[in-house]
Amino acid sequence: MTVLGFCDLRVTYGKHVAVESYNDILYSGEWVCVIGPNGAGKSSVLRAAAGLLDYSGSVAVDQKEVPATSARWRAQHIAFVPQSPLIPLDMTVQEYVLLGRNPYIPYFGVETAGDRGIVVDVLQSLDLAGFERRYLATLSGGEIQRLVIARALAQQAPVLLLDEPTSALDIGHQQHALELVDRLRRERGLTVVSAMHDLTLAGMYADRLVLMHEGRSVAQGSAAEVLRPENLAKYYGVSARVHREPDGTIVVIPNRGERN
Ligand SMILES: Nc1ncnc2c1ncn2[C@@H]1O[C@H](COP(=O)(O)OP(=O)(O)O)[C@@H](O)[C@H]1O
Ligand SMILES: [Mg+2]
Repeated sequence: MTVLGFCDLRVTYGKHVAVESYNDILYSGEWVCVIGPNGAGKSSVLRAAAGLLDYSGSVAVDQKEVPATSARWRAQHIAFVPQSPLIPLDMTVQEYVLLGRNPYIPYFGVETAGDRGIVVDVLQSLDLAGFERRYLATLSGGEIQRLVIARALAQQAPVLLLDEPTSALDIGHQQHALELVDRLRRERGLTVVSAMHDLTLAGMYADRLVLMHEGRSVAQGSAAEVLRPENLAKYYGVSARVHREPDGTIVVIPNRGERN
């Protein structure tokens, strides 16, 4: 049972306050999707939780404050898919995904057959079977994005942080990747926080949406509660209509030729 807690999280860059105060608590198997316009602070929340930023307040996994843990502990417990990952172009797909197994390989040790098996499985699950020997320089944007997700899944960490993980994927691979994450959180109890711009998709997969604006959480709850035309107008400056499908799915459609 892994718990991820945020308490009065505040992130600043020099004088700029990117996250004013973020509070939430997530239990195993929960998926929270952080939405909000560009610059709202979504990536800063995720990067703080990944242990990549200084902050005040608290972000804790199983009550361990993230920066106070060792890099190895973090890599075993928190997997992060950045919005703009650094891609070592001269590495092969196999080598890159194996990096996800580093936290389990003993110092001065080498990977085991088990580690290699996990790499094969995650590549397969993201439609990258057969790519093992390809250099990253030769991959398309969508292939790179799936590869970065593959590396994160190879970590087998209980907390998965995804920053716009499907922005470069076609509709089929998008669905495939999100269904995979959904299955993992149901079967293995992963705790998932993702930032996503596709509001309809965000509402379909998350248990809860958190709408951020200028560093604050301004609305949270179910898709029906958060994805309201008033909220979209107020925080995105967009005129949009919101439909509810017979199965309960909330669909957001921007209106043409209008702007609030
Ligand atoms: N390294 C940085 N230095 C200075 N300002 C930053 C840095 N990273 C992000 N910001 C600023 O902090 C705010 C929040 O950024 P970010 O968390 O990336 O938002 P989002 O992911 O919601 O688009 C933005 O105004 C952004 O310009
Ligand atoms: Mg971002």
